[in-house]
Amino acid sequence: MKLLIDHADIDKIREIYRYYPVDGVTTNPSILAAAGRPPFEVLREIRDFIGPDAELHAQVIARDAAGMVKDAKRITKELGMGTWVKIPAVPEGFAAMRELSAEGLRITATAIYTPMQAYLAAKAGALYAAVYINRVDNMGFDGVKVAKEIHDIYTKNGMDAGLLCASFKNSQQVLELAEYGVRAATVGPDVILNFVKNAAITSAVEDFIRDFEGLTGPGKTMSDC
Ligand code: E4P
Repeated sequence: MKLLIDHADIDKIREIYRYYPVDGVTTNPSILAAAGRPPFEVLREIRDFIGPDAELHAQVIARDAAGMVKDAKRITKELGMGTWVKIPAVPEGFAAMRELSAEGLRITATAIYTPMQAYLAAKAGALYAAVYINRVDNMGFDGVKVAKEIHDIYTKNGMDAGLLCASFKNSQQVLELAEYGVRAATVGPDVILNFVKNAAITSAVEDFIRDFEGLTGPGKTMSDC
């Protein structure tokens, strides 16, 4: 399963890249709004940092298919053809997906709450379906279960699309979907930076260091021996 960062703050992205093996960055209009700067300035900064081959996802804003197609072309012109264009999985979006996928653009269908949206998006040429795990949970349904259903639909029908699971609130949701073999998860810094935060882990590592220093002296490491 690929792991992406769902955020646009370059400092947070740098921090996570320093520690974790991540595959790219996803954004949405609300995330860009939170960055508080011109959208392409922020997206170009991210693209420059992650490099031309890492995944970068940016969303169209227009409500109609023609406008979405225009937005998609602007996104790929500014950020490179390899950039994933996020298009909402609504009727106008399906029309735009069909046109853009036929032209070779990489499409991430987004705002997915139901398996039917994901099925139609895949038929329209999207290669990722961004299902919103936590938002589905908040509606009183089971987001992880919905994601698994979509994964099964894609697998059993031999569809090219895969899941880009999004809107996570805890690492257990991420792990459960990794175990199920979904294609990708995009996760906010608040959840990623807590992936490996556990008193037992910290204590085990500290015990090793203390025991070693007992042998070799305070502050000594293998390099000093
Ligand atoms: C990704 O495609 C979504 O835009 C995003 O993950 C939504 O996350 P949220 O529910 O935390 O806003």
